Order: sequence, then C-alpha cells, then structure tokens
Amino acid sequence: MTTLNKAGTYKLGHRTVNRLGYGAMQLAGPGVFGPPKDPAAARAVLREAIAAGVNHIDTSDFYGPHVTNQTIREALHPYPDDLVIVTKISARRGADASWIPAMSPQELTQALHDNLRNLGLDAIEVVNFRSMHGIHGPAEGSIEPQLTVLADLQRKGLIRHIGLSNVTATQVAEGRSICDIVCVQNQYNLAHRDDDAMIDALARDGIPYVPFFPLGGFTPLQSSTLSEVAKRIGATPMQVALAWLLRRSPNILLIPGTSSVGHLRENLAAAELELPDDAMEALNGIAARSETHAAAH
Ligand SMILES: NC(=O)c1ccc[n+]([C@@H]2O[C@H](COP(=O)([O-])OP(=O)(O)OC[C@H]3O[C@@H](n4cnc5c(N)ncnc54)[C@H](OP(=O)(O)O)[C@@H]3O)[C@@H](O)[C@H]2O)c1
Repeated sequence: MTTLNKAGTYKLGHRTVNRLGYGAMQLAGPGVFGPPKDPAAARAVLREAIAAGVNHIDTSDFYGPHVTNQTIREALHPYPDDLVIVTKISARRGADASWIPAMSPQELTQALHDNLRNLGLDAIEVVNFRSMHGIHGPAEGSIEPQLTVLADLQRKGLIRHIGLSNVTATQVAEGRSICDIVCVQNQYNLAHRDDDAMIDALARDGIPYVPFFPLGGFTPLQSSTLSEVAKRIGATPMQVALAWLLRRSPNILLIPGTSSVGHLRENLAAAELELPDDAMEALNGIAARSETHAAAH
C-alpha cells in the first residue's frame, strides 16, 4: 500500500511493524511541556502518519504531561488494528517542566494507569522502563525492583510486552534475566554511536533497537559530510540520516519526531532511499571526525 514497505519490517513483541515509525514527543508544547501551539496541526501529523502506513508510534504520558497521549487518542482512537503504541514510564514532570525520577512501585503503577486512561486502552502493547538512574544518559544501577513491578503489571494483563530505555549493556542483561525484553530504546544517531556493540548483540538475538534522537533531537544533526552526501544523491540531510540508520542494522526501528506534516512526509520518504556503499562509507566516518553535534537533554 505504501512506500514505507520499502524499508522492510521487523518483529516487535509478537507484532510486526514497519521499520519506519513515528515518535510523538514533538507534539507537546515547547520543552515537551504543555499543549501544542496548534492542536489541530498535531492531530493532522498523527493522521498523516497512519495514512502513510506508520504502524509504530512511540509516546509517553510524561510528554506534556498527558497532552501527547490525549492528542493521540483524539486523533486516532479507535486505533487501527495493526497500530503498535509503545510508551515509557519512570518519570514525572515538575511545574517548571523538569524531568523527575518516579520509579517507586506506586509511581510506576500510577504512570501505567495514566497511560491507559489518556490513550484509551485496556492494555498497552509495549511499555519501556525508561531508567532514570541517569536522567540525560544511561547510568549503572540495578533495575530489578522496577522490572519486578512491570512484570507484575504484565501478569495482570495491563502490559503485553516490556522494553527498556536509557540503559547500559549490564542493565539489558539484568533485565533479560528477569523478564522477556522485546526492545531497547537508547540515544543513537550518525554522530552519537555509543551503542554500536549493543545494537549488534541485540540483532543477533532478534531484538529491536529503537534509537531516540535519530535526527539529533533538540539540536538536529549538522555536518558538511551529511549535506554533501545528501546533495550528491538528491535527498535531504535528514533523509540521509534516517537511511543510514536503516542500513546500519536490520533490527533498528525508527521513530523520528516532528510536529510538521511536511517534515513527516520527508522523513517517511527515507524508506525509499538506498544509500550507495561510498555514501555509507563517508557517513560512517562522521562520528570518528566528531564534526557533527547531537543534542543531549
Ligand atoms: N527514551 C527516551 O529517553 C527518549 C528521549 C527522547 C526522545 N524519545 C523518543 O524518540 C522520538 C524521536 O526523538 P526526537 O523527536 O526527540 O528527536 P529527532 O527525531 O531526532 O528530531 C526531532 C527534531 O528534528 C526536527 N525535524 C524532524 N524532521 C525534520 C526534517 N525533515 N527536517 C528538519 N527538521 C526536522 C523536529 O522539528 P519539527 O517539529 O520542526 O519537525 C525536531 O526538532 C521522540 O519523539 C520520542 O518518542 C525517547
């Protein structure tokens, strides 16, 4: 039905999704806080994504907070049968828009119920435990207490599958010893490649790796090499950044975020882009030369 098929599919839990999906974080207000400037435009982005064949949407109730999930519900409920909505829990927002760890059993349970209510679901297909041992990047520390809570919610039928986010390789191993982990969502893009070994290890076991900030996040990727490659092959830099991720490993599922229908169309068209070997080689060199910058928040 759509050109999204050209990027292929991958198994996520017991569902199969297109490798190009959509991340909904950009639909909240500035700083991922409060309502969008134009709620109708936010709903239009979601409807356009579904019309284009997207069947994997990443969200969280701490985007807004609540606003992004409510927007998804308003735009898309009742949901298409093939849509997989993935959320994440473990944080709450301060009145000043700060990100505050909320990892106690009560807070995790409350967060799950907030997601269910605001999305209008009886169960959520995939819930990522987003470690807040480090707020802006992975930090060691046991995740056993939190995963025990998620596994209990899974036994109650409120969560179908469990994933991890913002985690180290040690935490992935610990998580997999406690319950089935169906995906890992960490920061990774052309310029930020700390997880190279993790991606390859997960690929060997058939587990999806879902890079967040695939376009650089709050400070979109900028690189002369990226611009040169894009110009040479007649694509935009953002399309090339996504195509590089698609070619990097078959277990990578993309959730680029945007608040704009125009950018959404541009990003989804990356499914059709096949990077030639010499372009791949040039792009591989970017991180080594540290000529780009990606945002950390
Ligand atoms: N697990 C975690 O801790 C975590 C953390 C961050 C994000 N996430 C998830 O990952 C998803 C993706 O990350 P992200 O949205 O933060 O960052 P991203 O996808 O790397 O980039 C989004 C930024 O790029 C801009 N953009 C998008 N498409 C563009 C295009 N074609 N041309 C120019 N600019 C473009 C967006 O602005 P416009 O709105 O103007 O297009 C926005 O500023 C999020 O939506 C969220 O679901 C997870």
